[in-house]
Amino acid sequence: MKIVVLASGEGSNFEAIVEAAKRGQLDAEVVGLLTNRSGAKVMERARRLGIPCAAIAPAEYSTAAGWNQALLRYISGWQPEWIVLAGFTGLIGPALLAAFPSRVVNSHPSLLPKFGGKGMYGMRVHEAVLRAKETETGVTVHLLNEHFDEGPIIAQERIPIDSGDTPQSLADRLKAEERKFYPRVLQDLLTGRIKTR
Ligand code: GRF
Repeated sequence: MKIVVLASGEGSNFEAIVEAAKRGQLDAEVVGLLTNRSGAKVMERARRLGIPCAAIAPAEYSTAAGWNQALLRYISGWQPEWIVLAGFTGLIGPALLAAFPSRVVNSHPSLLPKFGGKGMYGMRVHEAVLRAKETETGVTVHLLNEHFDEGPIIAQERIPIDSGDTPQSLADRLKAEERKFYPRVLQDLLTGRIKTR
């Protein structure tokens, strides 16, 4: 199965996915990495790992739909079967979703539906979780729909919160788990062990 990863930040999940595929734990070939931020660290990782990559900035397009069409054109050139979001901050529009029905997947660093939605990404999620005095948090892998963090949930992993946790300590622990969990769930999805349609 060919997959394209979309990411905007550090890219540690992207690298974990590439490594899982190299080790044969994920039956996938990562054929490309697309970002909406040209300076994102994930670009450096892609170059180091030898994965074709490109940055398509929304600012260069007058509408969100135009930017989505540009993403779609680029992605189509790589001919993937799945689109995998790993810390992508852009909103995926209807044209892209229609081109890959039930084949766009995302990982979110909370137990959705809690602590998701527009603006809920990165450290903001962990800050909100701690502010709400939750006793556990986790990772949610879900299919994408047109709204941030709202598509059907595929799998969740729970992570207990320690009394001394800070947003940073929680993020570090959660991301270490996510880097193992996300490739495992992807493997189940791509091999049909988890059915989505
Ligand atoms: C991950 O925690 C992911 O769930 C969220 O953004 C983070 C990305 O981290 N959507 P990284 O860029 O993969 O290191």
